[in-house]
Amino acid sequence: MCGVIGCVGRPDETLDVLMHGLSKLEYRGYDSAGVALANGSVEIEKRAGKLENLEAALDGVSLEGAVGIGHTRWSTHGPPNDRNAHPHADCEGQVAVLHNGIIENYQAIKDELQAAGHEFESDTDTEVVPHLIESALADGATEEDAFRAAIRRIEGSYAIAAVFADHEAVYCARQDSPLVLGVGDDATYLGSDVPAFRAFTDRVIYLEDGELARIDEGGWEVSTLDGEPVEKSINTVNWDPEDTGKSGYDHFMLKEIHEQPRSLRQCLQGRVDELGGQVELDELAGVNPTSVQFVACGTSYHAALYGARLFQEAGIPAQAFLASEYVTAPPPVDDALVVGVTQSGETADTLSALRAAKRLGARTLGLTNVVGSTVARECDHVLYIRAGPEIGVAASKTFASQLVTLNLFSLAVTDDHDRESIGSLRDLPSTVQEILDDSVAAEVATAYLDADAYFFIGRGLNHPVALEGALKLKEITYRHAEGFAAGELKHGPLALVTDNTPVIAVATGDDEFARKTVGNVKEVEARDAPVIAVTDGQSDIERYADHVLRVPETHPRTAAVLASVQLQLFAYHTAADLGRSIDKPRNLAKSVTVE
Ligand code: F6R
Repeated sequence: MCGVIGCVGRPDETLDVLMHGLSKLEYRGYDSAGVALANGSVEIEKRAGKLENLEAALDGVSLEGAVGIGHTRWSTHGPPNDRNAHPHADCEGQVAVLHNGIIENYQAIKDELQAAGHEFESDTDTEVVPHLIESALADGATEEDAFRAAIRRIEGSYAIAAVFADHEAVYCARQDSPLVLGVGDDATYLGSDVPAFRAFTDRVIYLEDGELARIDEGGWEVSTLDGEPVEKSINTVNWDPEDTGKSGYDHFMLKEIHEQPRSLRQCLQGRVDELGGQVELDELAGVNPTSVQFVACGTSYHAALYGARLFQEAGIPAQAFLASEYVTAPPPVDDALVVGVTQSGETADTLSALRAAKRLGARTLGLTNVVGSTVARECDHVLYIRAGPEIGVAASKTFASQLVTLNLFSLAVTDDHDRESIGSLRDLPSTVQEILDDSVAAEVATAYLDADAYFFIGRGLNHPVALEGALKLKEITYRHAEGFAAGELKHGPLALVTDNTPVIAVATGDDEFARKTVGNVKEVEARDAPVIAVTDGQSDIERYADHVLRVPETHPRTAAVLASVQLQLFAYHTAADLGRSIDKPRNLAKSVTVE
């Protein structure tokens, strides 16, 4: 949460570069936005609410400076208002600071600074930093030493950046929050992630925890908090800046749903041998787990439930844990491989769980979308889902790529080489395209806009799909939705079912479990609940359904991926009809870097 951007080296365009970067980072938080430019003095402009409020405030205002920093906020300390928007300054206006993360010892520092006469303007934890810098400057420290001293005082998580009134450099540091430098021909950038400056350069440097960087006209220098120089390598990112635009779709989410054939092709490329039906994942050489513990949050947790089931089907004990709960009592790891499933690779809860497992001696694997993310760097092994950048806060294409990568993972490291499933994975880009071309989810969504609540049910591999369908709907429509294991409905939730609570039942195939789900559908139908069946037509669920969202007939593992595409479309169109803020749902952020 919170997006950070900085730029040095484009004196006539600093503000434009910052505003462009903030537009790319707004998915990380949109409670407020602000910029600070340095040019003899520090000029700050910041506004509560979405970026458009800051844009309006800047209309006609000339804000110039050779160096600048910008921030989009997802609130942790203090309500989202102008006062609490970043950047924050010291009493004298010598320095402006912005921050993503949480400063755990801020209250003690604030008490001390207030006792020494510092006046604070905000309720944020961040504001202690410019005041710490001010104190150090008053004691005669250089700007760099003052910044370093302030960083050394604070505890917690941070990606912090600062500019000084009469000093043409940006200083930044990271601990448990992402921060990346962008190296252009004439300019240097910093960002919470690469889309912030990808339009200007494809060369990046990933900062590690405990590193501090100084960026000025001459380039960049990275050091430890103690001032020891650190050698860094420059990586090249290989995706196009166009990939972060809406390409004519009304929302990023719809664009990303429609990108799934392409992102799945990317995910599978070079990993499934066309002729032999083998899965080859070079990155997993030597990985041979005897049991697996998955840790994840939200949508990724649903993917983890699906992944655990694949391993169980292959005879390997596996369990999925909510990462935030895993840390409260980590189970014995013995020889288990602990797998963090995380699109962003930065989720604080998932990182904590992986670190807890590591402390217990487990080997860890990160299954993530973001190259160079903290999870990718900290785990013993990493497996990329290759979905490409996802801007919509609600995950769509990353979920599908997680499910497919989990299939590849289980096929590669277990004795399960189910050829039929490999073939159906290979066909997924075209079967997903069929759904995108033919789905009637938009009409079905319109029929239920006045529902009191929505219930999603599924069994086996379709259980996590049902949970994810409900999460997607509640996230972007703000309507009440719950997902249940189909068999659980009768153990309590059935009391909630009425003629105004549609039940969305996912039943693919025609095995004994699909037939049992049909039995559960009969139970809700008998209570007059409208039924929307997500089915491949193999069972007779359609007889009891008011509407059908059809998926092509395929292997059960891939049917789950296809069903989830229909549910993404159902959630999207419900939210669109209700006029919701689909790409930036209220109270949510794309990357949740606090526990
Ligand atoms: C919902 C969604 C979230 C994330 C969760 C974990 O659409 O995307 O539930 O899945 O916040 O994030 P990652 O996957 O980045 O660890």
